[in-house]
Amino acid sequence: MIWKLALLGFGNVGQGLARLLVEKRKELKRKYGFEYKVVGIYDIKMGGICIKDGEVDLEKLLKIIDGGGMIADYPGASKDLNALGLIEMCQPDILIEMTFTDFETGQPAVTHCRQALANGIHVVTSNKGPAALAKKELWKLASENGVQFRFEGTVMSGTPAINLATGCLAGAKISGFRGILNGTTNFILTKMEGGMTYDAALAEAQKLGYAEADPTGDVEGWDALGKGVILASTLMDTEFRIKEVPRKGITQLKPADIEQTKKEGKRWKLLVECREKDGKVALKVEPVKVDLTDPLASVGGATNALTFDTDVLGPVTIIGAGAGRKETGFSILIDLLWIHSIARGKPLLEVGE
Ligand code: HSE
Repeated sequence: MIWKLALLGFGNVGQGLARLLVEKRKELKRKYGFEYKVVGIYDIKMGGICIKDGEVDLEKLLKIIDGGGMIADYPGASKDLNALGLIEMCQPDILIEMTFTDFETGQPAVTHCRQALANGIHVVTSNKGPAALAKKELWKLASENGVQFRFEGTVMSGTPAINLATGCLAGAKISGFRGILNGTTNFILTKMEGGMTYDAALAEAQKLGYAEADPTGDVEGWDALGKGVILASTLMDTEFRIKEVPRKGITQLKPADIEQTKKEGKRWKLLVECREKDGKVALKVEPVKVDLTDPLASVGGATNALTFDTDVLGPVTIIGAGAGRKETGFSILIDLLWIHSIARGKPLLEVGE
C-alpha cells in the first residue's frame, strides 16, 4: 500500500518532516516497506495544494521555500483550499496535524482531528492542544472508525517518550514522572548561565526553531505544563484542567539569580513533576535549583530528560532532543511507521525481511 499523506501546517515541524521524508524515502521502503505520497499540504500563512492523481514533489516545494517562496508559488497551488477542504478534497489515508497549539480551546486543531477521524482517516499530530484537551474523545472516535490517533510529537519532540511509556513499559505501573520537558527554556537557562542575555538567548531559540509561534507559551511554562497534562492523562489516567495546575515559568529568573545559584553549586531547571500520593495525583511546573550532582543538571541546551517511576524497574529515564525542526518531524515519522506496522499486522522489522 502507498500511504496518502496530507500535511496540515507547514512551519518548522512540517518542513522538518518533509526533509526527512525526502531523505529517507528509499530506506523507509527498503527497511519497513513504507511507501508514501503527499497528496496535499495546507498552511494558513503559506497557501495550499491538493494533487489527487499524483503527489506533491517535496524536494521542489522545499527549494521554493528555501528560496523565500511559499506553497502558493508551487505550480498548481490552489487559492481556495483551507484546512477542512484539504481533508475533504485530498482524501488522505493519514492526516498530519501540525498547526499551532492553543491550550485554551485546542482549536482549530481539535476540529481538524475530529473531521479526519470521523471520515476514517488516521491522525498523527504534534499539536499539544488536541492531545491535552480532547484525547479521550479523539481516541474513542478513532476506535469507532477503525483508525488511529497518535501524538508522539507532543512530548520531547522526536525522543520517543510516549511510545516508551505506553509500548516498551506496557505492563509496568507508572506512578509518577519528573523531568525537563521544554527545550526553549532549558536552552535559555543554559545560555544565560554562560553569560548570554535572556533576550539574545530567546532570539537564538526562535531562530533554531525551538520556540513556539508565541514563545510566551514556552517561557511562562504553559508548554511544559501541557506536556505534563498529556503524560498524566495518557499514563496515569488522570485528567487535569490546565488552568488549575500550579505553574511558574522562567521569566522571573534574573541573571543575578542564576549567578547566585551557580555559586551555591546548583543550577536552575524548569521541571515538570507528577506524583501520586495517598491516591491523589499532583502535577506542577516550576523552576527548581537542582544540585550539580543531580543527573538533570547536566542536561543542557534544547535537550529534554524524563524519568518515569515504575513499580517493576524503579526509575526509567529517557534523555534526548526536546525541540527542533527535524527532531519534531521525526516524531511524526515514528507514528507513521507505527500506523503502517499495525495496519499491515506485522512488526516493523522482521528477521530475514
Ligand atoms: N517549544 C517547544 C519546546 C517545542 O521548546 O520544547 C517542542 O514541543
